Amino acid sequence: MVLLAAAMLLLASVAAEDERIIGGQSCGRHQQAYQVALMDSPNTVRCGGVLIDPSWVLTAAHCDTVGPISIRLGEYSLKASEGTEQCIKSTQSFPHPNYNLTSHDYDIMLLKLQNTANLNNYVKTIGLPDRCPDPNTECLVSGWGTTQTPKGTGAICNGVVAGSGREMEGIWGPAE
Ligand SMILES: *[C@@H]1O[C@H](CO)[C@@H](O)[C@H](O)[C@H]1NC(C)=O
Repeated sequence: MVLLAAAMLLLASVAAEDERIIGGQSCGRHQQAYQVALMDSPNTVRCGGVLIDPSWVLTAAHCDTVGPISIRLGEYSLKASEGTEQCIKSTQSFPHPNYNLTSHDYDIMLLKLQNTANLNNYVKTIGLPDRCPDPNTECLVSGWGTTQTPKGTGAICNGVVAGSGREMEGIWGPAE
């Protein structure tokens, strides 16, 4: 659980539908090859996520749907077809068992992919941390769109600084 806690900090702002990356700038083409987009429709991003294994995506629990979720990998511009995209559906979702719909505590979820992603220059897995980042460590948040730019543009990145464990507990609840 400690392992996921660090990723959770990153994911919350990545994935929350109305909290886009504020004040961010373009990530650079395919620099975040682990970044995936969970789609509501061909033109609408539901949430961001990260590829942690060829068959697994880590995202937020509030992004769950009843049916399979269409996931785009190898994506940079959501508007243009760049020939690098892979589209794979989720087959099963595993929201954190303690996810609280009201408080959004434990807002984290794993998605199993129907097919294995083809790893290449544009689609890569990200290694999960085995501990929380030290306070004041610089972290990178990435996602789709900002409050300044409409949905449907390229991936957006922003630096954030990790808080102390105590601060994180205040935000996320105690680590297990
Ligand atoms: C979920 O969060 C709400 C609001 O913080 C809280 O009142 C409620 O007790 C929580 N539910 C559970 C099952 O922990």
